[in-house]
Amino acid sequence: MRYVAFGPDRRKVSTVMLGLMRVDDVDAKRLSSFLHTALDLGINALDTADIYAGGKSERLLGEVFSAEPGLREKFFLQTKVGIHRTEKLTYFDFSHDYIVSATKASLERLGLPYVDSLLLHRPDILMEPSEVAGAFQELHAQGLVRDFGVSNQNPATMRRLQSALPLPLCANQVQLSIAFAPAYEAVVNANMENQAACMRDGGIFEYAALNDQVIQTWSTFQYGYFEGTFLNNPRYQQLNDTLDELAPKYGVSKAALCVAWNLRYPAKVQAIVGTMNPQHLADLASGADVDLSREDWYRLYLAAGRQLP
Ligand SMILES: NC(=O)c1ccc[n+]([C@@H]2O[C@H](COP(=O)([O-])OP(=O)(O)OC[C@H]3O[C@@H](n4cnc5c(N)ncnc54)[C@H](OP(=O)(O)O)[C@@H]3O)[C@@H](O)[C@H]2O)c1
Repeated sequence: MRYVAFGPDRRKVSTVMLGLMRVDDVDAKRLSSFLHTALDLGINALDTADIYAGGKSERLLGEVFSAEPGLREKFFLQTKVGIHRTEKLTYFDFSHDYIVSATKASLERLGLPYVDSLLLHRPDILMEPSEVAGAFQELHAQGLVRDFGVSNQNPATMRRLQSALPLPLCANQVQLSIAFAPAYEAVVNANMENQAACMRDGGIFEYAALNDQVIQTWSTFQYGYFEGTFLNNPRYQQLNDTLDELAPKYGVSKAALCVAWNLRYPAKVQAIVGTMNPQHLADLASGADVDLSREDWYRLYLAAGRQLP
């Protein structure tokens, strides 16, 4: 396993991060065993959110941590707030009161005094940076949150938010996989007239690299927006053939190569994986140690159905 330095304290977080969104069918016993598998593989970073499985993800973690003293401290624990769900509507809410109350509700579900990192889940167009700053300062001063970051934000929004914050934004969590990389396509097609040239995000990866932020990539094995995995999917035959061909060369599984592809970007990157299967986790974790060649990285980029200009 490899690690990157997170936040001002440069905490050592594993480049493979365990995402705990898909826990509908998981109970505390299974999660506990899964967390130990993760630790055995060198994975020390956990990602959850207040909305995952309607709060079950945080509650389960709380159950597991309270049953085994000392386990929580072995992990860098991150949660996310900012998606406000009411009976009538789901919307994005970065108001001071909502951020503070949602974070306290998360800590209550987790049964913990603090989290290592808190991300704002999806950008709120009505964000007032000074309100967010007030909420972050309060949560930090009370020792409830150590570091802060965002998710799914473009550099313009981050710059505006950061301008009001006394604390650095340490991470941006964004979707990336071999089959989902519009941000890379825009870079490589700069100043072309084709659709891939559309710069929709303003250079999220470059912004994070310039600002020493950790890029946390979500849905490492998925294409589209929650459409399914490309692994062994006939729709991505050429990509699967190329993965099958390259995996033995690096002595790892196909899934591990996908992790290595995400981690190859030359900045601080964590690949968040959402498997709940210990064998899959063991298979893919070795991807963190693979040095994917530039040539093979591009072969996979192209095998997903893209062209270079
Ligand atoms: N910030 C955001 O907006 C956002 C959005 C979505 C997700 N996330 C975070 O990112 C994490 C990962 O997202 P994700 O679950 O969509 O990512 P993922 O790791 O691409 O997908 C995991 C799914 O792929 C399946 N899978 C099939 N074959 C696999 C193989 N060989 N190896 C590994 N998995 C395989 C897994 O099934 P098995 O369990 O059977 O292995 C699981 O259902 C989430 O848990 C969450 O923490 C963040």
